[in-house]
Amino acid sequence: METLKKRTDWFEEARYGMFVHWGAYSALGRGEWVLNRERISKEEYTRTAVEVFKAEQYDPASWAELARDAGMKYMVLTTRHLDGFALWETDQDDFHAGRLGPKQDLIRPYVEAVRSAGLRVGFYYSAANLNHPDYPGAFERDWPLGWHDENARKRFVKYYRAQLRELMTRYGKIDLLWFDGCIPTPIDGEETIAMVRELQPDILLNDRLGSPFDFACSEQIILAKDGLWEACMTLNDNWGFHVGDNSWKSPETVLKMLLSSAKDGGNLLLNVGPRADGTIPEVSADILREVGKWLRKNDEFLPRSVRSPFTWNNSSIVTVRGSSVYLHFIHSPGSVFRWAELRNRVLGATFVTTGMPAEFKQEGELLWLYGLPEETDCLAITIRLDVDCVPALVTEQKTFWIPG
Ligand code: GLC
Repeated sequence: METLKKRTDWFEEARYGMFVHWGAYSALGRGEWVLNRERISKEEYTRTAVEVFKAEQYDPASWAELARDAGMKYMVLTTRHLDGFALWETDQDDFHAGRLGPKQDLIRPYVEAVRSAGLRVGFYYSAANLNHPDYPGAFERDWPLGWHDENARKRFVKYYRAQLRELMTRYGKIDLLWFDGCIPTPIDGEETIAMVRELQPDILLNDRLGSPFDFACSEQIILAKDGLWEACMTLNDNWGFHVGDNSWKSPETVLKMLLSSAKDGGNLLLNVGPRADGTIPEVSADILREVGKWLRKNDEFLPRSVRSPFTWNNSSIVTVRGSSVYLHFIHSPGSVFRWAELRNRVLGATFVTTGMPAEFKQEGELLWLYGLPEETDCLAITIRLDVDCVPALVTEQKTFWIPG
């Protein structure tokens, strides 16, 4: 009999996704919070951002292809950020891409491209809308915000729920909905979530609107949480396109982030910020492709990686999947690596890239691996250890010290 699949299975199999922050703010090139940070009125924002945002090179198939080349399995696009400008033709107000700026629904081509690339489709949605008349204090710096009055609150809840209903009913099956925060309370999140689940019974939700959610998220830090979790990270210092931000993370850093989330059984949602014309800056695409090149030969550790019981060593990051332990050498230890953490008996050791066996010796608590390359031009050398049962640590480390 076919094993029944849990609706969260794909998420645990995926482990790596692409976040895309794209909207009218991309035209200003100073990040997605620009209207709040610079106190730009709606009228000025419409003139300087929305009307300049033309999406003239928009080709979501090329985004999806990049995500695939990068080894990613799902995508999450900002359908509407806190500037309130919807990328689809919402019926709830006039502030949308069908009427202004690009003058087209940008969501349908995205959904179709992502689906036909075989990736899972995710929407980001910001319940907060700094340009909505009922949203309290677009430029407030104090948090949390209170509503002006109950009628304003009710109107706002009705508005954002109606937008979500559009997103949940117009584009077929949506796999993931990613809510952002900065929302005044109460926002009646539980009822909204119930509506979303009724419209999309298999959808996975993050933890920023209310309960029940499916996965917890950590932002700009890779921090394991209970249950399913996902760390979202930027590739430079900004989510939305920033013309002057060249603080790109290196492919090595990206790989370390991916290994660090996999080692704690979590996902990495890595961001790109396309320009207003829809093109993804080549420098970010190159970084993703470089990691993707490595993943193509080494990614067997990733799907369904579980939380590793092992602590740390100075040469490798250790991930676990089933009864396999993967040592990812991001720093060469020299030709021999000595490991003092593994309780299990090793049945075999293999260089994952080549499939060649690695020589090893095991005595009591110690394991030696031989024949490691001392120099390599690839991001990491991965060795898989097949062990006799569930991977376990020799002695539990009670107090934890992580080298600075
Ligand atoms: C932060 C930012 C927001 C961004 C989000 C992504 O909350 O304020 O703009 O969309 O991170 O996680």
